[in-house]
Amino acid sequence: MKINVFDTYEQMSAYAAQVIKEEINKKKNLNLGLATGSTPEGMYENLVEFFENDELDFSSVTTFNLDEYCGLTPSHSQSYHYFMDEHLLSKVNVKKENINIPEGDEEKHEDICKAYDKKISQAGGIDLQVLGIGVNGHIGFNEPGDIFVADTHLIDLTDTTIEQNSRFFSNGEEVPKKAITMGIRPIINANKVVLMANGPSKAHAIKISLEGPITPQVPASILQLHEDLIVILDKEAAAELESI
Ligand code: F6R
Repeated sequence: MKINVFDTYEQMSAYAAQVIKEEINKKKNLNLGLATGSTPEGMYENLVEFFENDELDFSSVTTFNLDEYCGLTPSHSQSYHYFMDEHLLSKVNVKKENINIPEGDEEKHEDICKAYDKKISQAGGIDLQVLGIGVNGHIGFNEPGDIFVADTHLIDLTDTTIEQNSRFFSNGEEVPKKAITMGIRPIINANKVVLMANGPSKAHAIKISLEGPITPQVPASILQLHEDLIVILDKEAAAELESI
């Protein structure tokens, strides 16, 4: 694992975008796993800028998003479909047919999950997976639990996650209680993983994920086993780490 700590959010965002740019430039048809949330927003801004300056071409890239809430239509302003469109996908030249985001339809979840895993494996797996982290150590919406779930699945969001994400909604009641998330297998099988975190609220999650025991109670702890993990932090998120 390589841990990179930056003074500011802007610096870490620029570095993360640079890592992605290099990977796309090495492999034009990269399978790129993407996250939503506030952490990668700055990285997406940098990627859009690279595209606008003709430094990056997404025309052969295939994207796979980690997750989607259940019960929000893709046009809902807090859906992850909407987020991705707003922050990246409508602003660069990714082909529509190369964009993959799980559909947040609880009733059809079994078919949706199976089809999503099939799509990822038929594509040859994820080349580069970008991750944020929840304050409880979740990655995607793989919440703390008794086991690591390998495949894409329907998940009951924990109270912690619902509370954290209520900042994006007008009140806590509106936050979806379920989501569909990629499981741990494609994440851990990705050739390269970029884990990003910023701000003091993430310091403990980063500490227990990177320096604590590997346990499904801290889903991100499984990343310690990954051979090409790049951790990108601001100094506040790195504050509790002892190994740096
Ligand atoms: C979102 C996702 C989540 C977030 C995490 C952190 O697609 O997979 O794991 O990365 O909840 O969210 P932010 O960045 O909003 O703190």
